Amino acid sequence: MSQAQETHSKTRRKIALVTGAGARVGQAIAVELARAKFHVCLHYHQNKSGAQDTQKYIEDLGGTAQLFQADLRQASACQDLIRQVSLAVEHLDLLVNNASLFSPVAFEQLDLTVWQEMFSLNLQAPFLLSQGFLNHLKQAQGLIINLCDIGAERPLRGYAHYSSSKAGLIGLTRALAVELAPAVRCVGISPGQVAWPPGYTNAQREKLAERIPMKKGGTPEDIAKLVRFIMLDAPYINGAIIPVDGGLSCRY
Ligand SMILES: NC(=O)c1ccc[n+]([C@@H]2O[C@H](COP(=O)([O-])OP(=O)(O)OC[C@H]3O[C@@H](n4cnc5c(N)ncnc54)[C@H](OP(=O)(O)O)[C@@H]3O)[C@@H](O)[C@H]2O)c1
Repeated sequence: MSQAQETHSKTRRKIALVTGAGARVGQAIAVELARAKFHVCLHYHQNKSGAQDTQKYIEDLGGTAQLFQADLRQASACQDLIRQVSLAVEHLDLLVNNASLFSPVAFEQLDLTVWQEMFSLNLQAPFLLSQGFLNHLKQAQGLIINLCDIGAERPLRGYAHYSSSKAGLIGLTRALAVELAPAVRCVGISPGQVAWPPGYTNAQREKLAERIPMKKGGTPEDIAKLVRFIMLDAPYINGAIIPVDGGLSCRY
């Protein structure tokens, strides 16, 4: 990069795409990036009103955001999203692959359709989006952040398809960190419990919290602050898979 290009890249407004930005972790990441003065492209699948809420929070902060809909299980929808975002913004500094499926199926009942659906969203979509936005990310000396899971390496019963897809995502993260640097960094974040699954009872929460060394679950904001830190304050972090789990993955 020439000195003039470097000065321009430091002064121009940064742009991020966050998938699954209508609720929970994705929403917190999008809002935190807006606080850091990013323009945020908000992807959603079904939760349009949630994505509109995210946009509203961002506008209330004085920021800007745009909405994009896509079912990322479909390769063609990933390509459409890449086209739409590329038309809407002139560059992309940060891609956050956050959208994910998480639902238990006992291994004996696991069929190929469910397996493939899980892999399409959790692994194929991050692959396609990373590749589709690569030129943008290269020009911006950008960053890809993949939302992984401590359960990739310490699986929960009933989640063979989910854990395997997240283990694949860790593999993809490390592979891209090797292949795309120094132009583009790629980093994984592995949450423990940061947003409770819908329907989790207080008793279930307390039982899990008891196992966590910090004696409590984390929050979506814990993830969002780390995304901001990796992007803006930690330019030498590349290829790391960073647990945010209150120490849960350290114990057996
Ligand atoms: N929550 C935790 O404590 C925890 C723990 C470990 C790892 N993680 C990881 O952290 C990330 C965020 O967690 P979360 O709990 O906030 O996630 P989540 O609520 O389970 O899902 C995030 C988003 O994925 C989107 N999504 C679902 N199906 C989709 C499809 N077919 N196409 C496109 N998008 C689709 C949904 O968008 P719509 O709502 O718009 O349909 C949803 O908002 C995930 O990657 C998750 O695996 C979370």
